[in-house]
Amino acid sequence: MSRIAYVNGRYRPWRDAMVHVEDRGYQFSDGVYEVCEVRGGRLVDERRHLARLARSLEALRIAMPMSPAALGVVMRETVRRNRVSDGILYLQMTRGVARRDHAFPPPGTAPAVVVTARSLDSAGNDASAENGVAVITLPDNRWGRVDIKSVALLPNVLAKQTAREQGAREAWLVDRDGNVTEGSSSNAWIVTGTGKVVTRPADSAILRGITRDVLIGAISVKGLTLEERAFTVAEALAAKEAFLTSASQIVMPVVRIDGKPVGDGRPGPVARALRAAFYRYAESS
Ligand code: PDD
Repeated sequence: MSRIAYVNGRYRPWRDAMVHVEDRGYQFSDGVYEVCEVRGGRLVDERRHLARLARSLEALRIAMPMSPAALGVVMRETVRRNRVSDGILYLQMTRGVARRDHAFPPPGTAPAVVVTARSLDSAGNDASAENGVAVITLPDNRWGRVDIKSVALLPNVLAKQTAREQGAREAWLVDRDGNVTEGSSSNAWIVTGTGKVVTRPADSAILRGITRDVLIGAISVKGLTLEERAFTVAEALAAKEAFLTSASQIVMPVVRIDGKPVGDGRPGPVARALRAAFYRYAESS
């Protein structure tokens, strides 16, 4: 099937889907993005993703180039044209095309918009969740505003590659105090010996995941205790369970950290239950 991308107002066949050499996203990583899950051909948590997109744009002082309604139409049309049933939608907005100069381009420079969609192997994801995945830990050497979902992802890219090379799904990043911040493309969680679900508070040291937000709602409805606080690698290794969350993996049990087992080395009941319950708390549109 030929793939289609939305690029600055047009739906383009894959081979013609290009951005300009002076796009500021290309030259300066001067842009933001969102990844939204597609399930049964519908967007999961579109409203929350668009709200986060608006926050990221505002933080970088990039004007929202189109109304949320118009953007919603483009997102759905991109899913439809690519015939994605289960997969992800990727959306990127940059400060636009201008002669290279670090400072902002002249007022009126139009932001650039790209939207793509592709299928994901949801059966493969479910199989991974059955067995659980491994993570490694690495120093968190990112900038101080990782709460902005910017396309500047070089530390994340290098961390993920190191994880792959070591046979792990994800790299958990550790700050100078020895606390886990989050994964290179996911949020990090543990379940303590007394059954408390712990994840780092959404300050400027992590990206506030949409999956994380939805799960916090699910946790309170299920009567589990949530603690939003930092945790160390040692605490994670001593925990009953660990898991990670993201739009493409939902709730993914973590069974090994740096080669050592978490709990009994198998996915635990809390992570399994939250994965199973997730879509009851998410929005579909
Ligand atoms: N990543 N933290 C980081 C650094 C992320 O890149 C992501 C998402 C998350 C989880 O956010 P959400 O639940 O909204 O997906 C946390 C996306 C999936 C990506 O870059 O592909």
